This record gives sequence, C-alpha cells and structure tokens, in this order.
Amino acid sequence: MLLELLQKRRSIRRFQDTPVSQEHLDKLLEAALRSPSSKGINPWEFIVVQDRKTLTKLSSAKPHGATFLNNVALAIVVCADTSKTDVWVEDASIASIILHLTAADLGLGSCWVQIRKREHDTQRSAQEYLSEILGLDEQIMVEAIIGIGHPVEEKKGHDASSLLYGQVSYEQFGRR
Ligand SMILES: Cc1cc2nc3c(=O)[nH]c(=O)nc-3n(C[C@H](O)[C@H](O)[C@H](O)COP(=O)(O)O)c2cc1C
Repeated sequence: MLLELLQKRRSIRRFQDTPVSQEHLDKLLEAALRSPSSKGINPWEFIVVQDRKTLTKLSSAKPHGATFLNNVALAIVVCADTSKTDVWVEDASIASIILHLTAADLGLGSCWVQIRKREHDTQRSAQEYLSEILGLDEQIMVEAIIGIGHPVEEKKGHDASSLLYGQVSYEQFGRR
C-alpha cells in the first residue's frame, strides 16, 4: 500500500558506505521514467552521478542543505528541457518525488536538494555552478538533486496527530 509507505517515509541524509546495486538503480530509473507529465511531453533529463569527486562537487552546489551529498552512494540530478514545456517545474518535481518514494520502497534512504532558485554563492546561481560541472546545455534546467544510499539513520514516520488537518477545507476555503 502506498499509504503505508507514506506513513513511514522520511528524508534521510546519513548513509552507509555501501553502493546502491545496479538492480536498484534500474528500478529507480524505471520509476522516474514512468512519471506522469503534462501532455505526456516527458521533458525530464536525469543525470546519474556515482563518481565520488563529482558527488563532492554537487555537495557544494549551495551553501546550505547540500553537504550530505558528499556521503551518498549516488545522486540523480533531475533536470528538464525547458524548450519542451512551460510546466517543467511541475514535471521535474513529480519525477523527483517519485524517485524519493521509490527509494523508500526499495529500503533505501534519500533526500531532495533544492537547486532551482538557489544561489551557489554571491556570483553564481546553483544552476550555473551545476551547468559547468555537468556540461548542461543552455535549455536544460535543474530542479533538484536526489541523494540516495543505504540509510544509517532510522527515523520514525510522522505521527498521525501531527498532520495538518486544519489546512484542509471543505467546499469553501476556511470551512473546516
Ligand atoms: C521542495 C523541497 C526542497 C527541499 N530541499 C532540501 C534541501 O535543499 N536540503 C535538504 O537537506 N532537504 C531538503 N528537503 C527535504 C525537507 O527538508 C524535508 O522533506 C522536510 O524537512 C520534512 O522532513 P521529512 O521529509 O523527513 O518528512 C526538501 C524537500 C522538498 C519537498
């Protein structure tokens, strides 16, 4: 049941020093490529990074929130060809969350690193920094990097009592 997976799902940022198998990688990519997209345009580009030196470079994509990429077994950089659609952000976000959930389903841990609209430093955006490292064409934009590996940390799923049912309305906004 997807709901059971969602009840357990957490963002994982600490990993064992073991690789992700090819079988698991194949499943992750199959899942991502099965993502729905607006008008079925499928504008995504996925870049699988396993090279340790490149992972270290990815971990410096932005000042905060990317450091853990230094310790992942692999990262999947989720990009999109912006010349194909005006809703690439949605399409790439859906593929990103599907990667995160599939990783959890495979017993792997993962966490999203936001790239779109983030700065690398005062001179360059995270997009510009990654374009150089990954050799991205001009129209290829990065939404997120999903860092994946075998988890070290065990986190409990969020308690049902913490869910924000107060942000659900019925029929009219604010009607709880
Ligand atoms: C759009 C989005 C951007 C995120 N960006 C980052 C990030 O840059 N670095 C990071 O460590 N976690 C990032 N996260 C993970 C969130 O911090 C995490 O989902 C949130 O704290 C809730 O924790 P949980 O996923 O364990 O429930 C991001 C999550 C989303 C959905």
